[in-house]
Amino acid sequence: MTDNIKIIEEKLFSYLPSKDLLEKNLIDSMEYSLKAGGKRVRPNLSLEFCKLCNQPVEKALPFGCAVEMIHTYSLIHDDLPCMDDDDLRRGKPSNHKVFGEDIALLAGDALQSLAFEVLSCDDTISLTSPKACVKAVNTLSKYCGAVGMVGGQVIDLENEEKKAPIEILQTMDIKKTGGLIKAACELGCIAAEAEVEKIKAAGIYGEYIGLAFQIVDDILDVTSSSEELGKPVGSDLDNQKSTYVSLLGIDKCKALVNELTEKAINALSVFNSDTKPLSDFAVKLANRKN
Ligand code: IPE
Ligand code: IPE
Ligand code: MG
Ligand code: MG
Ligand code: MG
Repeated sequence: MTDNIKIIEEKLFSYLPSKDLLEKNLIDSMEYSLKAGGKRVRPNLSLEFCKLCNQPVEKALPFGCAVEMIHTYSLIHDDLPCMDDDDLRRGKPSNHKVFGEDIALLAGDALQSLAFEVLSCDDTISLTSPKACVKAVNTLSKYCGAVGMVGGQVIDLENEEKKAPIEILQTMDIKKTGGLIKAACELGCIAAEAEVEKIKAAGIYGEYIGLAFQIVDDILDVTSSSEELGKPVGSDLDNQKSTYVSLLGIDKCKALVNELTEKAINALSVFNSDTKPLSDFAVKLANRKN
């Protein structure tokens, strides 16, 4: 799905610890999920925002990889029996089906700490700056934690078997999915050491496409096939999840996705270089099939 996939994956896999350790099984488990595929949407956003701020994409690679590690950990935990209890992810058996629940849980934990190690290591500091790295740590930790992705996952669990009102669904999706997408966008500008105004605009774009991304995910859960998605379909219905689709129906959701995509594109107006790659990417995400 992204032009930058090759350089993203090369860098991402380079961060895996050596397997010459007693805990080799843990590293295998982390590697299994990181290498299982995935669209790499979040790191691509970091790279594209860095480019939009007139800096080379390579500068944002460590930041983008850190977001992808957090995202991968969130998927491993999301599939666990105590969460969505899904057995297929990225076209392969879910992590816990291969490594067991204990190792899957710990692989998620370890991917989370690896993300912050990457953001704050000497190589990343030399590539960007100490100030940019501290800001990246602060931003990513905020968007992945209790009032970000993890908080959103809790709202999701607590609204199973309920007909949640739209305001709750909006808050839930902005946090559970919008959080990491917003972080990825902001981190691209932070890597480029852009002005606050640009970081804010990237955050607004990220929040709109993040909300749209989860609504599309919920639509695909109803309309797609597990072959195309690489994960089970009908998971939301099985778990009696409260989603935009269960509340509004598919047609209204599709219209809303287009509206949110338009708003995201409008947020790019503060940038003085070519915004087409990011406006095209927003449209591509709105129309994605997997
Ligand atoms: C899936 O994210 C989980 C959501 C937040 C909706 P992606 O659709 O980006 O999953 P991968 O990374 O491509 O597997
Ligand atoms: C997950 O939402 C969001 C995360 C924070 C992982 P879903 O539960 O809808 O994601 P999928 O459909 O399993 O990928
Ligand atoms: Mg879930
Ligand atoms: Mg799930
Ligand atoms: Mg889903």
